[in-house]
Amino acid sequence: MECYIIILESMKISKNMQTALNNQIVLEANASNSYMAMASWCQVTGYDGSASFFYAQSNEEREHMLKIIHYLNNLGIPAVIPATKLPASSFKSLESILKIALNNEQIVTTAIHKMVEIAQKDKDYSTSAFLGWFVNEQVQEETKFETLIQKFDLIGRDKLAINEIDKILASSKSD
Ligand SMILES: [Fe+2]
Ligand SMILES: [Fe+2]
Repeated sequence: MECYIIILESMKISKNMQTALNNQIVLEANASNSYMAMASWCQVTGYDGSASFFYAQSNEEREHMLKIIHYLNNLGIPAVIPATKLPASSFKSLESILKIALNNEQIVTTAIHKMVEIAQKDKDYSTSAFLGWFVNEQVQEETKFETLIQKFDLIGRDKLAINEIDKILASSKSD
């Protein structure tokens, strides 16, 4: 009986880890909203390709949030569904949006790396494995935004160049 309890205990994740995962739900929810606001701004500004890119990006972040919600709930730990902060809704330019996006992704990467450290410290192998997907995802996200930002130096910042970059964003959208 005692042994049985010990096994059950070992499947649990620490309070620290639970808090970190719940905080990550907040970050993913805010990212989803922020990308939605960017998409909306792009749509009214006439950047159709960028709008579809950011709407898809918003959906992706929502999926990330759901992954964590399911992970916690499957462990019997109720996920906390957060209120989200009001995202910025007006922007200077498409280039500035992409820079804000890269900055947000870098913040998310740091948060995920901190969670990996907690999992390692806790010897929490299941959360460590779960977080592996997020670590790889962040590498792709940062590379994606860095590559897009680079296009302004390569192609230009006049109207024709931005039209070209808008098309590139449409084609780099993930499904
Ligand atoms: Fe994400
Ligand atoms: Fe992301």
